Amino acid sequence: MHHIAIFASGTGSNARKIIEYFKQRPEVTVSLVISNKQNAGVLEIAREHGVPTLHIRRDTFYGTESILDELAAHHIDFIVLAGFLWLVPAYLVRAFSRRIVNIHPALLPKYGGKGMYGHHVHEAVKAAGETETGITIHYVNEEYDEGAVIFQARCPVEPADTPDDIARKVHELEHRHFPEVIAGLLSGD
Ligand code: GAR
Repeated sequence: MHHIAIFASGTGSNARKIIEYFKQRPEVTVSLVISNKQNAGVLEIAREHGVPTLHIRRDTFYGTESILDELAAHHIDFIVLAGFLWLVPAYLVRAFSRRIVNIHPALLPKYGGKGMYGHHVHEAVKAAGETETGITIHYVNEEYDEGAVIFQARCPVEPADTPDDIARKVHELEHRHFPEVIAGLLSGD
């Protein structure tokens, strides 16, 4: 049995897909949703699904290791970042070595790094005149968007596409692939 924690800062559409996907699969459960934003949509989604939630503060997250106790209390053995905007501290990367994955809304190594998240990414893709973009699912290390790539999927960018259109296409890819990629990683254990 695997227990996942999802870390997210925003709306939580990916978290919703992951929670719903694993509701049908008894061998994996989303046991905790963690956010740095008290009013993040993702916390509401978790509550709707009866998943415990935790709000983290910057000083506690970076200044102590108390999150490790919270994760242990919920038997967490795998962490998914789904729109989580804070850098994961080294102590957490070490404690969950190759057991933290992130989704990025572009084809890394392009359009990654600090400040490259959500709409900023799609605007940069549009401004560069790219003809394709996509998603990257990767292991998390101590740098933004630099861990080993696990999976990528692509979609075309048409000349008339706005950053919103690009965001829509990318979200579709994320929702289609992210739960299955996580399931694949966990089924190997
Ligand atoms: C997703 O598109 C995810 O790839 C992106 O934030 C969005 C969250 O959407 N993550 C990053 O940009 C990380 N650098 P959601 O809250 O609807 O799941």
